[in-house]
Amino acid sequence: MPATLTGRVAFYAILVINHLAPLNTACSNCPFQWKEFSGHCYWMVTEKMSFQAAENHCQDRSSKLGMQSHLMSVTSPEESAFLRNYTADVLGEGHQALWIGLNDRAQPGIFVWTDGSSTPYCDFNPGEPNGSNSEDCVVLWNVDHWNDIDCARNFEFVCKMPGRFHN
Ligand SMILES: *[C@@H]1O[C@H](CO)[C@@H](O)[C@H](O)[C@H]1NC(C)=O
Ligand SMILES: *[C@@H]1O[C@H](CO)[C@@H](O)[C@H](O)[C@H]1NC(C)=O
Repeated sequence: MPATLTGRVAFYAILVINHLAPLNTACSNCPFQWKEFSGHCYWMVTEKMSFQAAENHCQDRSSKLGMQSHLMSVTSPEESAFLRNYTADVLGEGHQALWIGLNDRAQPGIFVWTDGSSTPYCDFNPGEPNGSNSEDCVVLWNVDHWNDIDCARNFEFVCKMPGRFHN
């Protein structure tokens, strides 16, 4: 190739690379080390805490990023499958219990999500919730369905927040 043509090819190659690279690397929807699923960002905390300490931990961690996370809400069968996979990957298939954000602490029998989600999706084990006043917080049980359990017990948990650019 003549030198001028080689130069021109290189020039356009650099233009193309400069143009493409930002599309692939910039503007990540989730902060570093948060896992993305369907427009939301998730963080598994493997330290065991009570339900309220876990919720506080999610809020504190995200406020440092200028974002707002809470204990994970589960709003669809797909998100439920994502949570099971994530839990099995990090904590193992047989893991016993992991906090999600559902609870009936304010009004027994009325279950709400700490992130304010309103969803008809529900995945309790048959016969659950059965705890009335003694079990007001909800876990993913055996990487399968949900159970209500004493809020003071200590378990791992997942924090969730909307991504930066879509949710
Ligand atoms: C969960 O894992 C199963 C089995 O590996 C896979 O088929 C499925 O696509 C995964 N679902 C999600 C939402 O990650
Ligand atoms: C609710 O069901 C679980 C699992 O079957 C059981 O271990 C627990 O004692 C029950 N709680 C109450 C308050 O009956």
